[in-house]
Amino acid sequence: MTKIRLHLIAAAAVLCASAASAQAPAKLKVGLMLPYTGTYASLGTAIENGFKQYVAEQGGKLGGREIEFVKVDDESDPSKATDNVNKLIKRDNVDVLIGSVHSGVAMAMAKVAKDTGTLLIVPNAGADAVTGAMCAQNIFRSSFSNWQPGYAMGEVVAKKGHKKVVTITWKYAAGDESVRGFKEAFEKGGGKVVKELSVPFPNVEFQALLTEIAATRPDAVYTFFAGGGAVKFVKDYAGAGLKKSIPLYGAGFLTDGTLEAQGLDADGLLTTLHYADALGTPRDTSFRLAYAKAYKQQPDVYAVQGYDAAQMLGVGLAAVKGDTSKKAEFADALHKAKIDSPRGPFTISRFNNPVQDIYLRQVTGKENKLVGVASKALADPGRGCRL
Ligand code: PHB
Repeated sequence: MTKIRLHLIAAAAVLCASAASAQAPAKLKVGLMLPYTGTYASLGTAIENGFKQYVAEQGGKLGGREIEFVKVDDESDPSKATDNVNKLIKRDNVDVLIGSVHSGVAMAMAKVAKDTGTLLIVPNAGADAVTGAMCAQNIFRSSFSNWQPGYAMGEVVAKKGHKKVVTITWKYAAGDESVRGFKEAFEKGGGKVVKELSVPFPNVEFQALLTEIAATRPDAVYTFFAGGGAVKFVKDYAGAGLKKSIPLYGAGFLTDGTLEAQGLDADGLLTTLHYADALGTPRDTSFRLAYAKAYKQQPDVYAVQGYDAAQMLGVGLAAVKGDTSKKAEFADALHKAKIDSPRGPFTISRFNNPVQDIYLRQVTGKENKLVGVASKALADPGRGCRL
């Protein structure tokens, strides 16, 4: 072979290689900012698992772009949240933020996302402000607002004829807003919240407050706790002898992902949430089988929310052909979409929060069994949002 021919072949090879790399879009960097330690650690893991399950089902790509992950443990600590999210944006150059579980952390993320225009999908935290006063075109939620399950349970408890309720929760946005949603519907239905009790997050010293509940003798108790704190609260409530005398109702986080640890102390509890075990739909059944196979455990609401965060990202990215700078088109696609969730199909409100059925569930053995739909297509009012 002549020298010239060799040069030509080499040049052609270089051209082909650069043409191929020009065609393959850059990987999409997804920053997972979730708790991997502390009372919400298992919630963060379930969200990551669900997210990765959907991406794997799509062959590792969304909107034509291969997905690459960067992870940070936010420890459910709002005081570290701004630094953590800035690192993801400035040091790691993520294209999309996924996080978090804790409402205080999510509000810090929302502020930075709004200031920098970075796309954010919240896969759990219910802080009403995220799709209310702090809302933005580039901030979405695949989960719920704290108001939603609380409001649905307020209607249920009022309809049961209870008149006098004590509430107990962690003193931070999620607890406060869950109680506020409950109270709004319960008092509209003729009941009265006679006492609002709380402990600081993530404190689990409940004894003094349980004694106070026993002395107050309400018709029922409404609560928001989740993760490790929910396990301890349900066990302590039963241990104090209250389960027999004063019915306990909660936002469904009280018994989701926690039943193995709560055992019989959770049996019979009624909660409201946008998911239940054994919904029995083909969509949910195939999701649950695939999740159990991949992760050797049963999925919970957090796994579903992670899965749906990835679905929402996929819908938006498909509409903008992988170009995250096209924010209006991305949002437009989500507002028109019906998300085919294991929880049942849901839509996205103009405030970027799911409009979804809230189920009434009852703990039976190790499952949150579906009792019925407590509130059909419940939409958060998006108070304070100007979009
Ligand atoms: C929240 O902080 O918004 C939060 C945390 C855990 C849950 C639900 C809501 O299970």
